[in-house]
Amino acid sequence: MHCLRVILLICLYFFKSVQKCTVRNCTVLPGRALFLSLSLFGVRNTLCVKIRARGIDAESRAVRAAGESVKAHSGASGAGRLPGARGPPLVCAPMCVRRAKVAENAARRGSAMLVSTQSMLTRAARGGYAVGQFNINNLEWIRAAMSAARDMEAPVILGVTESACAYMGGLRAVRALVEGMAGARDDLPMALHLDHAGEDMCLQAIGAGFSSVMFDGSKLPFAENLRVCAKLAAICRDRGVSLEAELGSPAGEEDGISGSGDKALPSQCAELARSGISSLAAAIGNIHGEYPAGWPGLDLALLREIRAAVKGLPLVLHGGSGIPDAMVRESIGLGICKINVNTECQLAFAEATKEYFASGRDLEPGGRTLQKVLAPGTEAVARTIREKIRFFGSAHTL
Ligand code: 13P
Repeated sequence: MHCLRVILLICLYFFKSVQKCTVRNCTVLPGRALFLSLSLFGVRNTLCVKIRARGIDAESRAVRAAGESVKAHSGASGAGRLPGARGPPLVCAPMCVRRAKVAENAARRGSAMLVSTQSMLTRAARGGYAVGQFNINNLEWIRAAMSAARDMEAPVILGVTESACAYMGGLRAVRALVEGMAGARDDLPMALHLDHAGEDMCLQAIGAGFSSVMFDGSKLPFAENLRVCAKLAAICRDRGVSLEAELGSPAGEEDGISGSGDKALPSQCAELARSGISSLAAAIGNIHGEYPAGWPGLDLALLREIRAAVKGLPLVLHGGSGIPDAMVRESIGLGICKINVNTECQLAFAEATKEYFASGRDLEPGGRTLQKVLAPGTEAVARTIREKIRFFGSAHTL
């Protein structure tokens, strides 16, 4: 009798606490209820494997589903399936709840497919690889980055500086271009990220539907950098946008702005990490642009200290062009999970375009039409990005 009462209680608990979430065919159960119930029926081990595998699959579907009137909500009713879903309804672990939230946040931003960098970087940190941020400078670069990422089955971060953004017609134009080129049903996890910006520009980008922003307060007094980061972090959290912050300042020049070359202080990194930011670009001797002869290399001892100080916060490496391979690998091993690349793509584009004219291909019939002139440069950028993705270890991680 006592045993029957316990079973009844467990069943009651199970049915009461089931939450259904209408992200495609994904039905979410709270972890405790799920494991309790599965143990009850003696199938925990076999099903858990299936659940995990399909939970991962559900993540990409959930992300894809953003913008298709996705509504993740609690409650017993309305657990319908979205159009295009195949296979039986899916029961998945709480991991899926987080991923459904990504889709929900993207839907809240009104974006068809843009996602924040949060889950890609968390997965990269766990998997021991880095996701590439490739700067976009015009339509061809967007095309190159997207096609390379699709070919390599890799998540991608499209970074855009303020000046590149102005060149392309402003924040909303950039977002429309990226989304338009991706197509409504693109299943590529892709973040549109504002690179190195001030507070106002970050707020405008969030309003314009960017899924990630970098507040560069590295030239401000630390207390001010911290204050603005905390303020932006709260706004970003609410909008499902990721926020990257910077400490120290890579030497070299980007977007017409020169950096001091100051390295980040681990104590400040630790404090900034607690402000709610999603990732931190800490300067460790890295440089924007081409590395000069005699460059002493990345300060990996400092990176180790920073990693310990930020306690799991994803770390970002700017100036990712031209760093020796072994050093990049070591830095990934020490917690770098996002690497920004622009200069190498610029050089590849310029070389291929120069070669097009040098070989006289412009003199062939139709050789001066814009698409033909830009094609070799675009392919060179795509090739560079494919190589970087392979090298960073993010290929085939979708
Ligand atoms: P590089 O131009 O040196 O590759 O750096 C890119 C970058 O850090 C963008 O933020």
